[in-house]
Amino acid sequence: MGKIVLIKKPSDPRLKKIAADLANGALVVFPTETVYGLGANALDDSAVKRIFWAKNRPADNPLIVHISDKKQLRFLAIKTPKKAERLMKRFWPGPLTLVLKKKKKVPSVVTAGLPTIGIRMPSHSIARKLIELAHVPIAAPSANTAGKPSATRAFHARLDLLSRVDWVIDSGPSRFGLESTIIDCTPKTPVLLRPGAVSVEQLEKTIGKIRIFRFGRKKIVAKAPGMKHRHYAPRARVVLVESKKIDSTIKKFKRKMMVLTVGKKISTTKNRIAFNFRFISGLAKELFACFRLADQKKVSNILVEKPLAKGIGRALLNRLEKAAAKR
Ligand code: TXA
Ligand code: MG
Repeated sequence: MGKIVLIKKPSDPRLKKIAADLANGALVVFPTETVYGLGANALDDSAVKRIFWAKNRPADNPLIVHISDKKQLRFLAIKTPKKAERLMKRFWPGPLTLVLKKKKKVPSVVTAGLPTIGIRMPSHSIARKLIELAHVPIAAPSANTAGKPSATRAFHARLDLLSRVDWVIDSGPSRFGLESTIIDCTPKTPVLLRPGAVSVEQLEKTIGKIRIFRFGRKKIVAKAPGMKHRHYAPRARVVLVESKKIDSTIKKFKRKMMVLTVGKKISTTKNRIAFNFRFISGLAKELFACFRLADQKKVSNILVEKPLAKGIGRALLNRLEKAAAKR
């Protein structure tokens, strides 16, 4: 059974003990700026295997390795192309994962047998301190049971994983609420594998044209096997609705619903839980928590105002489309 600790500052002395346990094979739920992560020593084969067991994660879905210092890169990646260097300089630490060619000594269970490795340096001060104190790179998927929405609060991770992990560090809600942007830097023209808080516009400003993978195409299965797995899914049905059709769509659904809008005011009633966000970033931050709340409240349908595919809106739309495609 895991222990839960509330940690507000990277200077908290308890982090030292947790980091030592982590280095010695423990599983630790920790905060990052995107979502909570379920971490293990990336160089410890059996600790990494326990991540897959704890989450019920298919073994063909590779993990992202988290570092606190660029020096750790040389233990993990063979070479870093110029464009990758520029991206690191501009966006690290932060919500960007780079896929690079992996070094042999990285256990193949981490990368699900792929010759490449996803690496990210989180900006969350507690995440970075934990990695620094552990003195090893940390493999960490999102801290949720496979197939469920990612955890953006420590209690989400606690509900999914507490009996299977050693520590849960609670540092409050995640800042962005959506997982990191993933870009494959191994081809000459880098390829966006997953949109996130670092937008396509920002990426292209830094390295010029990138390719955007059309999710669902066959090629992606070979490139990033994780993308084929069902994701981000609440039990309730997710319905994307054009802004101007919200009122008329609400009338069509009789059973208990949740309505998520940006700007538009919809009221909560006996049969309806409504959240009106001021900005798209607000909806992005709370989306997974809303999904979990909807299931807890036995909502049948979640109506979401469709965001424009721009900036963080592209990442939000990607998660919504995956959740909506569930059935
Ligand atoms: O924001 C995030 O990235 C969070 C926090 C904890 O850092 N982590 C996260 O991990 O979202 P996870 O495991 O839930 O999603 C990682 C995704 C998977 O879809 C996986 O297939 C992909 O990254 N991935 C990992 N390594 C890869 C590789 N070498 N090539 C292609 N895709 C890779
Ligand atoms: Mg995940």
